[in-house]
Amino acid sequence: MSPPRSTVRKRAVSEPVASETAIEIEQLVAAKEVVVACGPGGVGKTTTAAALAATVAARVGGRVLVLTVDPAKRLADALGIGALGNEATRIPTSAFTAVGVRPKGELHAAMLDMSESWDALVRRHAPDAGTAKQILANPLYQNISRRFSQGQDYIAMERLYELHEDGDYDLLVVDTPPSRNALDLLDAPARMQEFFSSRLLHWLTIPYRSRLVNAASRPFYSVADRVLGSQLLQDLADFFILLQTMRDGFVARADAVDRLLRDVRTTFLLVTTLEAVPGREASEMKAALASRKLHLGLLVCNKVLPTSLTDPAAARAADVVAEDAAALSEKLAPALAAKGGSAGSDEEMTPVVVERVLEEVAQSFSNFRQVATREAELLRELSASHDVTAIVPYQAGHITDLAGLLQMGARIWGETPTEPGRAKR
Ligand SMILES: Nc1ncnc2c1ncn2[C@@H]1O[C@H](COP(=O)(O)OP(=O)(O)O)[C@@H](O)[C@H]1O
Ligand SMILES: [Mg+2]
Repeated sequence: MSPPRSTVRKRAVSEPVASETAIEIEQLVAAKEVVVACGPGGVGKTTTAAALAATVAARVGGRVLVLTVDPAKRLADALGIGALGNEATRIPTSAFTAVGVRPKGELHAAMLDMSESWDALVRRHAPDAGTAKQILANPLYQNISRRFSQGQDYIAMERLYELHEDGDYDLLVVDTPPSRNALDLLDAPARMQEFFSSRLLHWLTIPYRSRLVNAASRPFYSVADRVLGSQLLQDLADFFILLQTMRDGFVARADAVDRLLRDVRTTFLLVTTLEAVPGREASEMKAALASRKLHLGLLVCNKVLPTSLTDPAAARAADVVAEDAAALSEKLAPALAAKGGSAGSDEEMTPVVVERVLEEVAQSFSNFRQVATREAELLRELSASHDVTAIVPYQAGHITDLAGLLQMGARIWGETPTEPGRAKR
């Protein structure tokens, strides 16, 4: 089922926009109903998902929901989520106006509550209320459902599916769990189906279904019995038997979740930094999306070093400073001392001291320049054959409130703020 599209979000053609990226992003979100943020761990996925949602709500309009998985505590507090379980909450218009923004639409936020989502799934798929109750009370279920890390990926996608079915929002931006492997997410629905159809589940339920355990597995069970205790084995068997009662429902649902990921109304947002390891992982993720024919609508390179570091003139200046540090420090030392040095004390800015500083500065500039050059290469590689790439620089201090999210959004939209006292590049 497709929710009615709000016309609010359709941008009037005459409306001014800041940049080409802005037009492309706004066209993208107007055409899509679901944005799945994915990427390596720790690169700013959660923050980017929230920034995108907040900026769409502010500039494009409609009812926008960001479903976060693991927001940093201060971000969760800023969005008013955290203690709410799966329930969505609306960020009041007053929070936008307080930072000078009159939002065109509504921003809602929710946090993915793993245990609540698992319990809801069990209630949906169990054949009857009694079985559901038994599963929910099974101590193994309680343990496994809360720790099973691959399950997190599935639950995030499952919750997304449910929200999409409900049709309450024009745009859903979903953050994803910090998987060990970003690709796990794409395969989560298939894995869930596989698990329910696998021999593993069948095998695990053998001791329950037949007390006549075959000769081959008997030693295993007798060892397991001694090591784990028979109560645990019984709980295990009960658990897997109960799980099997939900098999058909789970398989059908996982299939529907998978279809939503492939739907034309769904797009992926790949977030990465331009560091070597996440960069490589993002590049694999990009290939994986393409090979699965999943739509990659937007690439956000986050925490990127300023391009001014790769300016050749600046590089030449740093080289001169390094080469002529001794001569320069002879000239600089008196000027610096006049500004604040205490002659004759430990703090005296002698040419030797100044020379050391100049060398250090030149060296660190050159280190940063090297990193920025590698980043630029990786950016070229990642953004090749790709339409919409946004670059977000490293921002001092963590992004923990709506103002920070909207600032990040402006960068995603391709705007470069002019810093006071600095010429626009
Ligand atoms: N552009 C940025 N500049 C500086 N800090 C950032 C930036 N983007 C994100 N962060 C910070 O990095 C940390 C990790 O971000 P988060 O969104 O939780 O990452 P992930 O969800 O990928 O694990 C947070 O403290 C966040 O505030
Ligand atoms: Mg996160």
